[in-house]
Amino acid sequence: MIFQGLLDRLDFTSWLLLGFLLLILIDVVKNWAPHNFPPGPWGVPFLGNIFTAVDFKSLEKLTQKYGPVFSLRKGSERYVFISGYKMVKEALVNQLDSFMDRPIVPLFHIIYNGLGIALSNGYLWKKQRKFATSHLRYFGGGQRSLEKYIEVECNFLCEAFKEEQERPFNPHYMMKNAVSNIICSVVFGHRFEYTDPSFRRFLELDNEAIVLSGSLQAQLYDVFPGLMTYLPGPHQTVHSNYREILSFLKTEVQKHQEEWNPDDPRDYIDVYLAEMKKHKEDPLAGFNTETLLFCTLDLIEAGTESAANTLRWALVYMMNYPEIQTKVQAEIDKVIGQSRQPTIADRPNLPYTDAVIHESQRVGNIVPLGFPKMASKDATLGGYFIPKGTAITTNLASVLFDKNEWETPDVFNPGHFLDSEGKFLKKDAFLPFSAGKRVCLGENLAKMELFLFFTTLLQRFTFAPVPGEMPSLEGVMGFTYSPNEFRMLAVPR
Ligand code: HEM
Repeated sequence: MIFQGLLDRLDFTSWLLLGFLLLILIDVVKNWAPHNFPPGPWGVPFLGNIFTAVDFKSLEKLTQKYGPVFSLRKGSERYVFISGYKMVKEALVNQLDSFMDRPIVPLFHIIYNGLGIALSNGYLWKKQRKFATSHLRYFGGGQRSLEKYIEVECNFLCEAFKEEQERPFNPHYMMKNAVSNIICSVVFGHRFEYTDPSFRRFLELDNEAIVLSGSLQAQLYDVFPGLMTYLPGPHQTVHSNYREILSFLKTEVQKHQEEWNPDDPRDYIDVYLAEMKKHKEDPLAGFNTETLLFCTLDLIEAGTESAANTLRWALVYMMNYPEIQTKVQAEIDKVIGQSRQPTIADRPNLPYTDAVIHESQRVGNIVPLGFPKMASKDATLGGYFIPKGTAITTNLASVLFDKNEWETPDVFNPGHFLDSEGKFLKKDAFLPFSAGKRVCLGENLAKMELFLFFTTLLQRFTFAPVPGEMPSLEGVMGFTYSPNEFRMLAVPR
């Protein structure tokens, strides 16, 4: 009776308030964290922590407050962040099978649909990854050696730099094209001229998609895909760019299908077409033209962006720290001279140069938050319970700048990778390629590329800033962390 009386006296505003409180209660109950779940900041009702920035600098503050394993909520999805060398190693290496799956990331899922290598899971991922790895290994040795491809491409890049005749220029797309040509030779069996407008368009679309996927709207897409699909914004550009990129790749695949000779496989696509015939009885392995398209996209995209941006960072550091550039050149001059091109066999004799390349990778911090991961089974980490299916972010930046692992984490210091006698020193906390079962598939190729491109460029040129335009040490955060656009002078030596 009393309750009925109370209800009768409620006006419109009170009804609204009551409804709102009820919704909040439902939200709290629905999003109640499991027992002993990693802690984290309180989230706004319904939205969670979508206003909390997830760049690696903001994450550092959250780590200081909540420890190396903490959580954030976006909408109703919970994300666990793992930071610092010890905890990342525990997750990826000591608990090898616990955090190896990819979650569904709506922004990419609408394009990839779980196919390819980088965003697939289970049996299909295992088969596709194994196949791509063995193909890269095959190209790594023998006559068609990857080293030879890289050496030839180094010469093309040096020629292009020379043609700039010591005038200011932005090396962005020349370097991207050069690095991309290595994986293109493996996948397509040919390289692209730096003046090729269709490949330039491909690289520009890819670059834009990677930068825009770090935008606020793209992150909102992951929380409210249904709503964001109908709203304009950079997330739409990401999708239209990928559609155009895929149609470029489709043309390459179709050309291969028309020219295919099973007795003379020229590249990854040719051997993949043969594999499709072998796997006719095993559809779950995914050897079909659609998966081929996404594997090709993964290899070209992953094989271009990170290595090219690392090399650009290395040039940015050489211009900011000319005394280090001079020391690298002195070592190259002493060990190799000017009469021949550097080869991989020179690496053990160039410890300072090798240390500078490693330090460029560490400070360049190209993939600060790794690729998204998901708990493959119920797991315990740092004393907290993480249920199967929880989205995981391994904060690789926190490993590369871990105060317990690096003498001067915030300073560009090649000494991090040198012992007291000046010999190259391996560091366990050097994890730019991540670790565990999902470790970068192209790690060996990337290391070869970085060494050969960097030493050949520094052997032939001195890099100087355009007066008044010192390249910034601050980068741009998208899916990767890349240098700001810069111009430079390449002075032949
Ligand atoms: C400096 C250069 C590079 C860096 C820093 C880098 C870094 C990474 C990182 C951090 C991951 C995520 C690993 C994880 O989820 O734990 C990854 C994955 C991957 N990388 Fe690289 N990468 C580089 C170059 C390359 C190259 C040259 C290729 C070409 C073959 C490549 C192909 C891939 C692929 C296919 C994956 C997905 C692997 C999977 O999901 O199983 N990467 N890379």
